[in-house]
Amino acid sequence: MSTIANKLAREELIDMVPYQSARRLYASGSDSSSAQNKIWLNANEASGLGNYNINSNSINRYPDFQPDNLINAYCAYSGLTPTNILATRGADEGIELIIRTFCKAYQDSILICPPTYGMYAISAENHGAEIVRVPLIDNQLDLDSMKTQVGQVKVVFLCSPGNPTGNLLTTESIKTALELFGDTAIVVVDEAYIEFSPENTKASWIKDYPQLVVLRTLSKAFALAGLRCGFTLANPDIITMLSKVIAPYPISAPVADIASAALAKAELEKMRTRVQETVILRTQLFGWLNNQKWCANVFESDANFILFQTTDTHTKNFIFDCLKQQDILIRDQSAQLQLAHCLRISIGSERELSLLKQTIINAFSPATSET
Ligand SMILES: Cc1ncc(COP(=O)(O)O)c(C=O)c1O
Repeated sequence: MSTIANKLAREELIDMVPYQSARRLYASGSDSSSAQNKIWLNANEASGLGNYNINSNSINRYPDFQPDNLINAYCAYSGLTPTNILATRGADEGIELIIRTFCKAYQDSILICPPTYGMYAISAENHGAEIVRVPLIDNQLDLDSMKTQVGQVKVVFLCSPGNPTGNLLTTESIKTALELFGDTAIVVVDEAYIEFSPENTKASWIKDYPQLVVLRTLSKAFALAGLRCGFTLANPDIITMLSKVIAPYPISAPVADIASAALAKAELEKMRTRVQETVILRTQLFGWLNNQKWCANVFESDANFILFQTTDTHTKNFIFDCLKQQDILIRDQSAQLQLAHCLRISIGSERELSLLKQTIINAFSPATSET
């Protein structure tokens, strides 16, 4: 079958049959009553529960490759079908899988648009894939320069909303990038922060663009970073190819249970409320930063953090260090292309952000009172 996945994947994967784990051969299904009617002697598991005081009735069993309860819950949330979804250990695993599936080590390249999320480059370096950098211009894609790379790269990583910049890429530019690269590259739209502007998701474009892959996570708006659960959304041929590369049991049973509970209707409402609260705090912090003498620029944010530029390196270090002394940790982004003197603050709780502001005010006040 001629599909974009077959065209672009590492050749050895095309005919490769993935490891036929016990649960890939016979899934237990989310209906535990049918699982309980079977006698499971095919995976060298213990037949009874250990005495761990854990709230799970099947922890002695390997989980299904892609647990039904989780995939069905994400289908309902995303409006896609199970064949469009691969659950992974965070979006980070999705990034790694895409590179491992589509890039031949020491031959193929990925394209990134810095300043951007660091793991695209790290995963590429780990795998031996080359990195082509086409920097953003005014935090948007430089489509003219990207055009010169058509045919030269296997995977293009777009991040919208961007980390660490915070803003959305325009719909028009994502569309143009998809059309530019056509069937020559997988175009990834990393939507780790999309819950902060859900109307801008490109997940529904998957049916129109066979080369599109959308990355999602429960680590941000869902408040489940410790769970390590993300989703790769794409056409079935891409999902099938990625499924050959991923580990046989990527999602542990407790993760599937917690994640599917987090995707239930009532929990989605709570997530949306959390997003609204975050946006209010973000707007307040944005206004405050904008009024500070030491702040040269505040970046517009569609995510749960704010990037800002201080007037100079000394000031950047001063702010970072005085916060650190009070055990308030923010992220120095100044090593990134175009982000000299820039710091990034995650939108924490109201109390955490008040402490942050007060600490900065206190740090500057002796200097202010002298002048
Ligand atoms: C843009 C972006 N993509 C992906 C990730 C990774 O998310 P996860 O925790 O799901 O691995 C992050 C985490 O900070 C991110 O900022």
